[in-house]
Amino acid sequence: MIQPKHHVFLCTGTKLRGDAKGMCHTRGAEALIGKLVEELDDRELSSEVMVSTAGCFAICDKGPVMVVYPEGVWYGELTPEKIERIAEEHFEEGNPVAEYQI
Ligand code: FES
Repeated sequence: MIQPKHHVFLCTGTKLRGDAKGMCHTRGAEALIGKLVEELDDRELSSEVMVSTAGCFAICDKGPVMVVYPEGVWYGELTPEKIERIAEEHFEEGNPVAEYQI
């Protein structure tokens, strides 16, 4: 069984019936997943950070949103630039980015 150091859940705004209509979806969450995976691959962190999608966390106005466990760190209003910095500082260096936390 895989035991990653971090498990990321990134909201793609999918509702319970499977319709992708939420705010995170509208604000480009799908592309952010690709960006995060790319950043982790570049840093050879793919085995340390598991990435999963999630449905709505009911904090849509802060979207796109992701939560990182086991730390329980929530990031909001994500952009590709923020994903890059989180990959570097949080996942590579071990320092969550306080500036982006919600
Ligand atoms: S759609 Fe992402 S928190 Fe609601």
